[in-house]
Amino acid sequence: MTDSSSDTHKTGQAMWGGRFSDKPAELMQAINVSIGFDKRLAAQDLAGSRAHAAMLRKAGVISSEDEAAIQGGLQTIGDEIDAGTFQFREEYEDIHMNVEARLRELIGPAAGRLHTARSRNDQVALDFRMWVRDACDRTGVQIRALQAALLAKAEPHAGAIMPGFTHLQPAQPVTFGHHLMAYVEMFGRDASRFADARARMNESPLGAAALAGSPFPIDRHMTAQALGFDRPTANSLDSVADRDFALEALAAATICATHLSRLAEEIVIWMTPQFGFIRLSDAFTTGSSIMPQKKNPDAAELIRAKVGRLLGSFTQLAVVMKGLPLTYSKDMQEDKVPTFEAFDALELSLRAMAGMVADLEPNTDRMAAAAGAGFSTATDLADWLVRELNLPFRDAHHVTGAAVKRAEQLGVDLPNLPLAELQALDPRITAGVYEVLTPQASAASRKSYGGTAPDQVRAQIQRWKELLG
Ligand code: ARG
Repeated sequence: MTDSSSDTHKTGQAMWGGRFSDKPAELMQAINVSIGFDKRLAAQDLAGSRAHAAMLRKAGVISSEDEAAIQGGLQTIGDEIDAGTFQFREEYEDIHMNVEARLRELIGPAAGRLHTARSRNDQVALDFRMWVRDACDRTGVQIRALQAALLAKAEPHAGAIMPGFTHLQPAQPVTFGHHLMAYVEMFGRDASRFADARARMNESPLGAAALAGSPFPIDRHMTAQALGFDRPTANSLDSVADRDFALEALAAATICATHLSRLAEEIVIWMTPQFGFIRLSDAFTTGSSIMPQKKNPDAAELIRAKVGRLLGSFTQLAVVMKGLPLTYSKDMQEDKVPTFEAFDALELSLRAMAGMVADLEPNTDRMAAAAGAGFSTATDLADWLVRELNLPFRDAHHVTGAAVKRAEQLGVDLPNLPLAELQALDPRITAGVYEVLTPQASAASRKSYGGTAPDQVRAQIQRWKELLG
């Protein structure tokens, strides 16, 4: 059967139907077709084809005329896709055959030479790898934008006292800037995870062909370089069988989503009237259709939830890849939807979170008041007893516990517990102790590197400003 045979001419069979005499069942086509989603690989597919054609010409595998025709046709296809006039057709199965079929319409039989020394197996491995690489780069940029938003909010509030929590119980006073900077650190590690994954995946699988390499005198270094890779992959079987680059990117994405989820949860908590630590404007809240007083942090809640989708995507791909024999199997076509969905969700979440962070306004009075509640400077009292009276920390802890108990009985907080009460616990306690019992003094005293003292927080903000440029 030839390409011009009427039955196969208008289907993907034109590309592979030589030994077939019947058309695929409709159900076969329905389960096989991927153009609905892999059209998102169009730009990568065209770039790969351009590099491949240039290399084939340089290697003397195709003529200059054929290469020129192919490059011209690919250019037209790119323009059509950009203009939205390209017809993606299910009968051509996937993006690779859609492009090739259109190329044939545009330039005739020379189009058939483009697939020399190439298979859809290395083609899809290439396209998908480049897509994931781009996604890592985009995500990196969005993480930096979120970090910049956090920094901008942290800087004016480097000294704004708020309660620090463990077990969501008031623990020790910290500053709002310090709390926000904790997320700058987390997102910094996320960005570096994407950068690491990118560096590891940056090898070109093009030229592995179906699985075993090619008998043509191809130059894989040339195509690798043209497509921005550091080098070609070193094993042709691995090249077409591997999807761990996507798994690694999804793992990084999932971890990043857990960080987003934690910050989102804190925003939800801080926004409750009971906490009242922050306000979000109308831009990032919604109302209730029945309760007129409501202002709900829906964006934060949705970001909090997205990690489910991200982890789901990672799990989906891990299960698809598990136990697959080398090399390519069609199972691997199921790699794309979860990956696309994961990055769509992550990128939207990162952008929404950056917007929300810029939007939120802390109620610093409320935070400061809460920071003084719950005997949050008890540790400072214990430390003072150790420093000034040379008590062993365990004894100081005990005396402080008794002071907290007494304050609770009297219904006052530690800074307002009368000196006589403290001296009843240890007569050597002096009025100097009150200097460490305010939340401000407590925070300011924690000057250890990375501690919550406003000067330390400002130093970290400065360091990050320089890092982010
Ligand atoms: N659409 C396929 C995928 O996404 C392309 C590779 C198909 N290769 C093959 N030999 N059937 O995995």
